[in-house]
Amino acid sequence: MAQGEAKTFYIETFGCQMNVHDSEKVIGTLLSEGYQQVSTVEEAGLILYNTCSIRDKAAQKVFHRLADYKKLQSQGKKFGVLGCVAQQEGHKIFERAPHVSMVCGSASYRNLPEMLVQLEAGNRRVTGLDDRHTDQTFDTEFTARSNQHRGYITIIEGCDKFCSYCVVPFTRGKERSRTSESVLAEARRMVDQGFTDIQLLGQNVNSYRDPSGKKTFAELLAAVGEIAGIKRVRFTTSHPRDFTRDIVDAIDAVPTLCDHVHLPVQSGSTKVLDAMQRLYTREQYLERISWIKAARRDISLTTDLIVGFPGETREDFEETIALLGEVQYDGAFTFKYSPRPNTQALSLPDAISEEEKSLRLAILNERQKQISVENNKRHLNQTVEAMVEGRNHSRKQWYGRTSQNKVLNFTAPDDLSLTIGSYVQVRVTQSYANSLVGELAV
Ligand code: 5AD
Ligand code: SF4
Repeated sequence: MAQGEAKTFYIETFGCQMNVHDSEKVIGTLLSEGYQQVSTVEEAGLILYNTCSIRDKAAQKVFHRLADYKKLQSQGKKFGVLGCVAQQEGHKIFERAPHVSMVCGSASYRNLPEMLVQLEAGNRRVTGLDDRHTDQTFDTEFTARSNQHRGYITIIEGCDKFCSYCVVPFTRGKERSRTSESVLAEARRMVDQGFTDIQLLGQNVNSYRDPSGKKTFAELLAAVGEIAGIKRVRFTTSHPRDFTRDIVDAIDAVPTLCDHVHLPVQSGSTKVLDAMQRLYTREQYLERISWIKAARRDISLTTDLIVGFPGETREDFEETIALLGEVQYDGAFTFKYSPRPNTQALSLPDAISEEEKSLRLAILNERQKQISVENNKRHLNQTVEAMVEGRNHSRKQWYGRTSQNKVLNFTAPDDLSLTIGSYVQVRVTQSYANSLVGELAV
């Protein structure tokens, strides 16, 4: 980069909410180091690519994209690969894509300022590849949140569960929690800046352990919900093994905690759960569900499901289908099992064919859709609160989100201008599998 030239960067993000929020922190860090964010690759001096490797042929996709970018190298641009594929592939990235000069996994982001200095000094192989030894979290006051009303706070990084299909413990390192004081301080700062909706993030928020020993996860959740000015608190994602009853008690006791629990089950068959090393049985999972259903509030339940895990028989799959009917989820994220590097499930026999996986996925989605359609009918004629997120001008509708995290499209009188981020009451007039429709209640 020529001297005196503005330092500019472009960042592209793939993957889960953790990656999205990591990018917000990376962006904040770069801005604080004097970089400017630009919206096209062409304008940027530094191109960053925050990658995900949870499913599919993630690494291959990254290499294809990097190959596309190669021609830009002649313009003096620099390239950095961040996130899970960076951690997983490490130095191999420099070999296969020599135009890349920075490779940094998420457990090393706190070192970014030093890495940027090295990059600017012309170092062609800057690396941040912490493995599972790191004890540190990436706390930064420089978070560039993309939404002004709703924002994430990481409470725990990494994962120690080692589910046999999952790459996360290898890419995001071991579990490390932030102190409850630092989480609460960040939440208070956000409220001062105008945020009203906070989502606590972690690969497994239920295994949160306050390093200062002051608060359990449920107590932290309640404490965030009790900050004056907070309207909504969510948390994701939960692991059934560590999901305790006091979380439901907290939701019942603190009105700002949202009416929604995402509790990934992955399979309805205890045999498959065992092979997945999920550490709970179908019955233990259903016990947690019964706690949630016994709450005074109408808590919406959603889940994650994997079909076609090695050895999953038709009978096992039928147990998953039956579980959907028993739990009555409002929604589910469904996936075909995808073999991942380093994971234990790679060595399991009895792989399921792609064709069979696709068939099971289609059956599962169809069944869940029926249930979602039926479940959402309970909202008809209810008046629910929505946070206003925007306006769809062509449909002359506003849209927002309910406490249960459901999308709500609604009409309001033509001359009424609603404020984005405000909370309004809406009477529900129509319901679908993935959304509700209503009109502003006066
Ligand atoms: N194959 C398919 N789905 C997976 N998930 C995680 N790893 C895999 C894999 N190897 C799904 C799980 C998890 C969600 C985030 O992604 O359902 O809960
Ligand atoms: Fe992966 Fe299991 Fe950890 Fe979730 S709990 S991140 S599925 S290893």
